[in-house]
Amino acid sequence: MYLKKQLIITVGVLGVVALSVAATSPQQQAPPKLVNLKVFPKNISFRVLDHEMDVWSASLGVHCNFCHARNDQTGKMDFASDAKPEKEAARHMFLMTAKINKKFFQAKKDSLGMVLTAGVNCNTCHNGTAHPEVKIPDEHRGPGGPPPGGPAAPPSGK
Ligand code: HEC
Ligand code: HEC
Repeated sequence: MYLKKQLIITVGVLGVVALSVAATSPQQQAPPKLVNLKVFPKNISFRVLDHEMDVWSASLGVHCNFCHARNDQTGKMDFASDAKPEKEAARHMFLMTAKINKKFFQAKKDSLGMVLTAGVNCNTCHNGTAHPEVKIPDEHRGPGGPPPGGPAAPPSGK
């Protein structure tokens, strides 16, 4: 009985060692291939993309599944899938943000000749919410919500 128990434990330990060796082998460690990039540079590294995804999630106050769909069969996240419209919306937002920065921030200098480079990012508008438009205080909304040109400018002199 004692021997049998020893054997089971030994086999168990060996199994764990074998598994951890497999998990640290180079093939297993290679980052996942990025297969469906339409707005990011094609040669972006997984590490940089992953960091960007964390920043987007935090800026919108959401988790990955706000934009990414789960594969029903495997039960795993399918990050390459375009099933969720929120993902396409995010691509649009990314292009818009890049355009604003290129047009209004790049190569603009202040009176000291300092280049304004900070620009805008997702958090500038979103500030932790997926729907920044609902943050407009009620008293600034017209009868039917904000006017087509956007919320009214604050009264002058205040
Ligand atoms: C606000 C929406 C949004 C959120 C939140 C988000 N993503 Fe993404 N993700 C995208 C978009 C858009 C792309 C595609 C970019 C492109 O087309 O170049 C993408 C691409 C990816 C890819 C590359 C897939 C491929 O092979 O093409 C991975 C991996 C990924 N995201 C992981 C994550 C992880 C992990 C999280 C959570 C930490 C996350 N994303 C959160 C919008 C989002
Ligand atoms: C200039 C301000 C601004 C910037 C910068 C901005 N957004 Fe947005 N975003 C908005 C507004 C406003 C809405 C709401 C539009 C609506 O639904 O009427 C929105 C909506 C969205 C939505 C759709 C949410 C939904 O439920 O459909 C996503 C996703 C999103 N933004 C992602 C991003 C990401 C990712 C970035 C950075 C790459 C970004 N946004 C940068 C203003 C901005």
